[in-house]
Amino acid sequence: MAAIEAENLTRVYRVGDGEVRALDGLSLSVPEGELAAVMGPSGSGKSTLLALLGGLDTATAGRVSVHGEALETKSADELATYRRDSVGFIFQDFFLLGHLTAEENVEVPLKLAGMERPERLARARELIEQVGLGHRGGHLPNQLSGGERQRVAIARALSNRPKLVLADEPTGNLDEKTGHEIADMLVQLNAEQNIAMLLVTHNPVVADRAQRQFRLGSGKLIEETVKP
Ligand SMILES: Nc1ncnc2c1ncn2[C@@H]1O[C@H](COP(=O)(O)OP(=O)(O)OP(=O)(O)O)[C@@H](O)[C@H]1O
Ligand SMILES: [Mg+2]
Repeated sequence: MAAIEAENLTRVYRVGDGEVRALDGLSLSVPEGELAAVMGPSGSGKSTLLALLGGLDTATAGRVSVHGEALETKSADELATYRRDSVGFIFQDFFLLGHLTAEENVEVPLKLAGMERPERLARARELIEQVGLGHRGGHLPNQLSGGERQRVAIARALSNRPKLVLADEPTGNLDEKTGHEIADMLVQLNAEQNIAMLLVTHNPVVADRAQRQFRLGSGKLIEETVKP
């Protein structure tokens, strides 16, 4: 079973009298456990694709399933459960809660999933250590570097043991060296934990770490390359 299967995926936004075809009949598939990169110019539909795969938005037409679970037929409640239990999100801007420490940020999804406090604390601690921030767990986001903040976001994305991680330009706000460290971490987590990952990036060096690369243009799949 594929981790991601999108068939003729279309997302049309109505703006005033006109419309934008953010995705225009896109079909692609990512095998179980694979790390795939998505590239393409600004406005080509990359974030729209991630929003559909993550259950943050719904398609205008077409089909999308994640580990065999069809998303286009889910209700809003079912999508909320899917987002909580099955997907981890990592964004360019980190989106950490500023009044919570690194460890508390990682705890949030665990709390939402109903995990009891002692178990939650232990799991958050373990995740923070896993991303190399054992010494920074008590820091607030504004007491962390950009790379450290993104590590917290990675730990948070992994907290509920998702089957799929969606990352939208996770290295976009980081300097080159830190960006490569974050990419290394994603590659390592993908290999160790066998979590499928879809990684949007403008950086060809980062994209080259992926086994599979998709190139989008105007909401369509222009090119797919797979490493031998
Ligand atoms: N909510 C919206 N309403 C109307 N149009 C939208 C909306 N969101 C995105 N679009 C349009 O859809 C197209 C695809 O946007 P998307 O954000 O997916 O691009 P992207 O490939 O992620 O670009 P970037 O590299 O700049 O992040 C763009 O033309 C954008 O203007
Ligand atoms: Mg985008």
